[in-house]
Amino acid sequence: MKNYLVIGGSSGIGKQISTLLVEEGHAVFSSYNTNYIPDNKDIKYFYLNVLDKIELPDWLPEQIDGFVYCPGSITLKPFHRLTKESFLKDYELNVLGSVEILKQILPRMKSASIVLFSSIAVQKGMKYHAQVAASKGAIEGLTHALSAELAPNIRVNAIAPSLTETPLSAALLKTEQQREGNAKRHPLHRFGNVQDIASAACFLLSDKSSWITGQILHVDGGFSTINL
Ligand SMILES: NC(=O)c1ccc[n+]([C@@H]2O[C@H](COP(=O)([O-])OP(=O)(O)OC[C@H]3O[C@@H](n4cnc5c(N)ncnc54)[C@H](OP(=O)(O)O)[C@@H]3O)[C@@H](O)[C@H]2O)c1
Repeated sequence: MKNYLVIGGSSGIGKQISTLLVEEGHAVFSSYNTNYIPDNKDIKYFYLNVLDKIELPDWLPEQIDGFVYCPGSITLKPFHRLTKESFLKDYELNVLGSVEILKQILPRMKSASIVLFSSIAVQKGMKYHAQVAASKGAIEGLTHALSAELAPNIRVNAIAPSLTETPLSAALLKTEQQREGNAKRHPLHRFGNVQDIASAACFLLSDKSSWITGQILHVDGGFSTINL
């Protein structure tokens, strides 16, 4: 049994990761921001807004074996409508939140696996994705740098999903037309679901991936690398 800390475990991908880890018999400590859903008493939830002062609960275990950082955003706007302030806020949510938490928990991580979240928008240029691509590009750089600095005892990887059905992406999958169009854009003819991404994250967190570090895992139905 391992101890896992999941930041953003109350919705979408993070909620599914928390559920799978508990099903595997691990102790799971997950944060929520706006959606406290106490529907799984095995997951120990606590409140955290990474845009405020970050104070983790003092009852977290002394040893943390795995860490996942899920807060993120999908702000799709033409470049001229994006402001310096919105870029900075996005960076704070996607990147600085993970940096600050890692600084606090690294002393508790002796041998561990860290999973961060990037996006397909880094590998594949897509219009209106400038802000998310900038923040997630920083996550990919952080993944590479930290994997070097923390080896050999701590592994650091990131997952770069394509469109995955969660509350975050709901606006992109509202109508039948949107759902069909988005499914067809992917070589595997569907958009992702939380299980697709959470099972990849649980693999990276587990000892099954013990020779994998410094990688960006593209879980995207082939969208980033295959031309249709
Ligand atoms: N869904 C996609 O299509 C997609 C595609 C590419 C990359 N990603 C990335 O995958 C990751 C997970 O996305 P998701 O779709 O599962 O998102 P989601 O459903 O919105 O879940 C995000 C989680 O982060 C928490 N969170 C949000 N803002 C926070 C804040 N200020 N402080 C602390 N926690 C906060 C949320 O808490 P509450 O719900 O309690 O507020 C929730 O638990 C993100 O980094 C996202 O950028 C997603």
